[in-house]
Parts: sequence; structure tokens; C-alpha cells
Amino acid sequence: MSAGTSLAERYGPRALILGGSEGIGAEFADLLAGAGLDLTLVARSAGALNETAARIRDAHGVEVDVIELDLTAPDIPSKAGDIIAARDFGLVIYNAGATHGVNLFLDQPVDRALNLVALNCASPVAVAHAALGKMREKGRGGLILISSMSGLVGSGYVAAYAASKSFEIVLAEGLHWELQRDGVDILCAVASLTDTPAMQRSGMVEVEGLTPMDARTFATGAIDALGSAPVWYAVGDAAVEGMRAMPRTAITANASAMSAQLWGIKVDN
Ligand SMILES: NC(=O)c1ccc[n+]([C@@H]2O[C@H](COP(=O)([O-])OP(=O)(O)OC[C@H]3O[C@@H](n4cnc5c(N)ncnc54)[C@H](OP(=O)(O)O)[C@@H]3O)[C@@H](O)[C@H]2O)c1
Repeated sequence: MSAGTSLAERYGPRALILGGSEGIGAEFADLLAGAGLDLTLVARSAGALNETAARIRDAHGVEVDVIELDLTAPDIPSKAGDIIAARDFGLVIYNAGATHGVNLFLDQPVDRALNLVALNCASPVAVAHAALGKMREKGRGGLILISSMSGLVGSGYVAAYAASKSFEIVLAEGLHWELQRDGVDILCAVASLTDTPAMQRSGMVEVEGLTPMDARTFATGAIDALGSAPVWYAVGDAAVEGMRAMPRTAITANASAMSAQLWGIKVDN
């Protein structure tokens, strides 16, 4: 975002947050409402959506509507198209996408991996296609996809999750190149371990020396980075460069060991 332009001027009047009921998504919602944007929040559970929407309306006096929707549903292209056609979104944040169920690829039903592909690949493509067309016509807007450090390299125990999060990074890079001439900002915001309700429910264990980032800090950093680069790493560029300097097979081995440790998986070899 260029200096001197407010969030509301650049990305108003309304933001769509897919996965906006809790954690990082709810922090984005609170931040944007504080800047005067109206909101549409999407998630599966009506209870959490309505609670978050009521809290934000009370705190900031903006308009917040909610839509119950499973982003892995096969008819997402038409549903996303309808949602986006019905409102004037200057900013879309695709946040939903965490892994649920960590284990060896072959020890899980294939549907689990296919579900992650739907959530982190097919649905972001559908949402981006519907939203960016309108933004290009207007000559302004923004799209943020939320990825993970897991997307930087393959990892055992979260093989499909890591691959699907990699898709979001590469998609954002290409879209950023294509749309920068049209005044539309694209960002992939790459989270490391972040304290969210979903992370707490996932069965992740505490690992000494590994402190999760606060969800508000992540959301603030992502909004600040929008418009300045295609990809923003919450851990900082230096940590990513350090990782990339290692042989790729060694990073995969490290990532697999870390995944096993984080979810308390006993490794035999
Ligand atoms: N937390 C971490 O440590 C961490 C680390 C790296 C990257 N990330 C990334 O950060 C993002 C947010 O992660 P998170 O930990 O907050 O968990 P998350 O489950 O990805 O996101 C939570 C939000 O997404 C909604 N959601 C989840 N699945 C959905 C679906 N199929 N359809 C519609 N809405 C859905 C949830 O509401 P409902 O459950 O009610 O649908 C909630 O509003 C993800 O993209 C994740 O990959 C997180």
C-alpha cells in the first residue's frame, strides 16, 4: 500500500475473510474493521461466526455479515462467484487451510489429502478468479492468501498439507506479476507456528524453544506487507534464506522430524 493512503481508501469498502471466525482470520477482521472496512466472514460453524461478528460490530460499528460455507465443497466456484458478485469487496483474505490429522500419507484415507487440495488449491483458485476480475476492472484491490512454512519444502507426516501450502505461495507469485500493472495487490503471507484455536485443537504438543507467534502480530505484519512484495514470511527473510541454503533433502528430513515432534508421533527409524 502506498504511503499516505488509508486501508479503507485502498481496500474499502468491504473485505471478505474466508476462515474469518477465529484465530488469524478473526484478527484480520478486527484490524480491518478498526480501519473502517465493512466485512463478510465465511466459515463452517455458525456459532463462532456470529460471536465474532457481534464482537466486531460492537467494537467498531461497521457492518459485518456472515456466510456459513464449507470451502471444500465441490460447488465452490459457483458459490464463491455468487458471494463476490453480490458485494463490493476491495480486499479478499483466504485464511482457512490448516492441517487436521497428521500422519504418514498412506496411514490416512485419501480423502484427507484430497480435502487439503480442495481447501488450499481448488478453492483459492476459484475465489481468486472471481474476485480479481472485478478488482482488475476497478483498477484497485487486494488478495491475501495465507500459507505456511510447511509450503517451502516437502515434509513427512504432512506431505499433502505441505504440498498444498506450496501451491498458494507459487500461485500468489504469478498473480502478483500479472496484476501489478492493474493496481491490484497480491500477497502470500507465510505463517510459522501461530497460536490459534485450530492449532490448539490439532493436538500439537509444546516443544521447548518453539514459541508460537501471536495471531494478531501475524495479521498486522501481513496487512503491512500487502502491496510491497508477492510473499511475506512472518519469520523474516533471513530465516528463509538460511533454510534455502541447506540441501533440500536435509531440510525435508528436518521438517519431517519437526512435524513428528510437534504432533507427538513416535518415529521408529
Ligand atoms: N496456526 C498455525 O500454527 C499455522 C502455521 C502455519 C500456517 N498456518 C495457516 O494459517 C491459516 C489459519 O490457520 P488456523 O490455525 O487459524 O486454522 P484454520 O482451521 O486454517 O483456520 C481457522 C478458520 O478457518 C475456518 N475454516 C477451516 N476449515 C474451513 C472450511 N473447510 N471451510 C470454511 N471455513 C473453514 C474456521 O472456521 P470453521 O472451522 O468453523 O469452518 C476458522 O474460521 C491456515 O491457512 C494455515 O495453513 C497456521
